[in-house]
Amino acid sequence: MSNSGEIANIVYSYSINELEEENKLLKETINHLKNEIDRFRTPPLMVCEIKEIDGNNAVIKVPNGNQFFVCVSESCDPLRAGDSVLVDQKNLNVLRKYSKNKSFSVEKFVILEKPTVTFKNIGGLEKQILEIKEVVELPLTKPYLFKKVGITPPKGILLYGPPGTGKTLLGKAVANSTDSTFIEVVASELVQKFIGEGAKLVKEIFELAREKAPSIIFIDEIDALAAKRLDVGTSGEREVQRTFMQLLAEIDGFEPLGNVKVIGCTNRRDILDPAILRPGRLDRLVHVPLPDKQGLGEIFKIHTKDMSFDHIKVDKLLNLMDGFSGAEVRAACTEAGYFAIRDDRSDVTEKDFIKAIDKVSEEEDSEDEYVNMFG
Ligand SMILES: Nc1ncnc2c1ncn2[C@@H]1O[C@H](COP(=O)(O)OP(=O)(O)OP(=O)(O)O)[C@@H](O)[C@H]1O
Ligand SMILES: [Mg+2]
Repeated sequence: MSNSGEIANIVYSYSINELEEENKLLKETINHLKNEIDRFRTPPLMVCEIKEIDGNNAVIKVPNGNQFFVCVSESCDPLRAGDSVLVDQKNLNVLRKYSKNKSFSVEKFVILEKPTVTFKNIGGLEKQILEIKEVVELPLTKPYLFKKVGITPPKGILLYGPPGTGKTLLGKAVANSTDSTFIEVVASELVQKFIGEGAKLVKEIFELAREKAPSIIFIDEIDALAAKRLDVGTSGEREVQRTFMQLLAEIDGFEPLGNVKVIGCTNRRDILDPAILRPGRLDRLVHVPLPDKQGLGEIFKIHTKDMSFDHIKVDKLLNLMDGFSGAEVRAACTEAGYFAIRDDRSDVTEKDFIKAIDKVSEEEDSEDEYVNMFG
């Protein structure tokens, strides 16, 4: 009897302790949530740019582009034109300086790397490699040669040609051979994703390039920025135009013998604004065409170097791949490997390659149809 009474007591006090503990925990959670609600209730501040500063007043630019003459809080750090500030949404008074991490936005947006691709990984394109070595590599590695002869090298180069022919590879290989930072920017993203910020980003990209020099700024799909514009009526078009102007200004602004080079890339040379190709800008044009038979052979060799196969008539396969880009050759090699894996073999056969080439050709055809249908 007394035994069970004791047990009941123990259980009772145990559960009281437990409940008290739980109560404490719940109270803490409530407090935390209350604080969180308070925090959420504070009105958001607007990030604006200082255009001019005049004692305790400033002209600020709000994100939609309008400018206002406003007061600056006394507790605010000293400000300069160009600074970002946090502004009360109701009365637009400047509350404090917003020191965002320098080049934060730009580093998040570009791809920064030290590529490992070498010229040996590129099949065909001997002429193009030579040209890129002359225009990009030589000024970076031996600037004194140019000084001695008294000429200024181009500041940049424009690679143009169909998709998948090795333009990006060329850019990466030269960044590697010169031990440069490769800064990859996709121009269409610059204008689509960062509306209103394009020109500023271009400026920051060049700043970053100087900081990380020697460096190569690789602008893919440059036609998205540098297309001839017939009318600049819409605000979107004006924005692209502004970003383009900033790009031209940045290219004009750096030294040809400095250690920053620009490589532009496009599949649409025909629509480019001649302004980007003027002397002193990307005035060296390099065509990167589809590979010829010899090129196909070299590319095939590169992408099959780790594969095991014998009794393969390479010549026959190359004929079947006539009209393929380098990227398609690679795709065909990968597909052939998959056929072998599905069959539980480690040797890749000629039949695998033929099936793979067929598959890639079909995909190419359906892509062409799509382009014909939708432009
Ligand atoms: N000449 C080549 N030699 C070896 N591989 C190649 C060659 N061209 C293309 N490739 C293969 O195709 C892939 C894609 O090539 P790359 O990205 O350089 O094409 P691109 O010309 O930049 O195409 P896009 O115009 O679509 O950007 C490469 O990673 C490589 O594997
Ligand atoms: Mg590319």
